[in-house]
Amino acid sequence: MSDSVKQAAAELPKAIAASARLVDSALDAVLPQPAGRQARVQEAMRYAVQAGGKRLRPFLVLHSARLFGVDDSRSLRVGAAIEALHTYSLVHDDLPCMDDDDLRRGRPTTHIAFDEMTAVLAGDALLTISFEILADARTHPSAEVRCALIARLAEASGHSGMIGGQIIDMLADASFGVDDVIDLQRRKTGQLFEFSCEAGPLLGQATHEDRARLKAYAEEMGVVFQITDDLLDVTSTLEKTGKAVGKDAGMGKQTLVTLLGLQGARAEAQTRARRAVEALGPYAAQAPELSALPFFLLDRDA
Ligand code: IPE
Ligand code: IPE
Ligand code: MG
Ligand code: MG
Ligand code: MG
Repeated sequence: MSDSVKQAAAELPKAIAASARLVDSALDAVLPQPAGRQARVQEAMRYAVQAGGKRLRPFLVLHSARLFGVDDSRSLRVGAAIEALHTYSLVHDDLPCMDDDDLRRGRPTTHIAFDEMTAVLAGDALLTISFEILADARTHPSAEVRCALIARLAEASGHSGMIGGQIIDMLADASFGVDDVIDLQRRKTGQLFEFSCEAGPLLGQATHEDRARLKAYAEEMGVVFQITDDLLDVTSTLEKTGKAVGKDAGMGKQTLVTLLGLQGARAEAQTRARRAVEALGPYAAQAPELSALPFFLLDRDA
């Protein structure tokens, strides 16, 4: 790690918190105020989003966009869109028909705080509002750019992306090997990280080469993130993560931790973190926040 990346890694918690404050205001502005007969679903949308969370995806949007001179007011709207969509995925992931979890982000899950029907609908509404935000001219004056963002988010979150990964995850069995698990995780988790990092070059109308660099970075970073999520499921606590731990073992899930062991999984994550920074090429020095993030994730305890 270069000195600037080391310094950025030390300062990363502050940078993530600063970006989270900005995105929280953007979310507050775009989420509906509960009103009328539909107020209950709007309350549940706000409940799920405002429970907090690390806001990593908007952080990636913000910093990938700054690389290409994009105004924060635009990238924060894209950050709010991806966070709304990510939150929908968590609300549904926690339902009794999927992981059946009672705690998320340190609070009762949405179906516990409200009820299942409201949680399903709040998730649906968070999904659709993310596309509404992207389609708005305040996100970008060019309709072509807005369409490209919408198409990429649909691809990343849909049947071959996040939803594809979720069904593979739900149906996975003990025959899954390392390559199967990596493919599953690239879809389930990696695709939203890829969208977040490609959003910067898309908003900045940068070259295909620039977009490919950010995408390659995100691919490796996504694996680092998911390995550490799986490691925390084994090594961390409910108090720290704000969600139940020991779930993967309890559900008999194959992860890189079950397949490679704790040390092996950590080593794989370290290799991927180095590759993520290499993929950034010249942008590694220009965006120390992006270079530092994979290493920060390696050491996270929540
Ligand atoms: C959790 O994502 C779900 C996975 C994709 C593994 P995060 O760890 O980013 O959750 P929040 O947003 O911080 O709650
Ligand atoms: C959830 O993965 C991923 C999505 C919602 C797309 P997990 O089931 O591993 O996430 P946690 O551990 O509940 O946060
Ligand atoms: Mg799950
Ligand atoms: Mg889960
Ligand atoms: Mg998990």
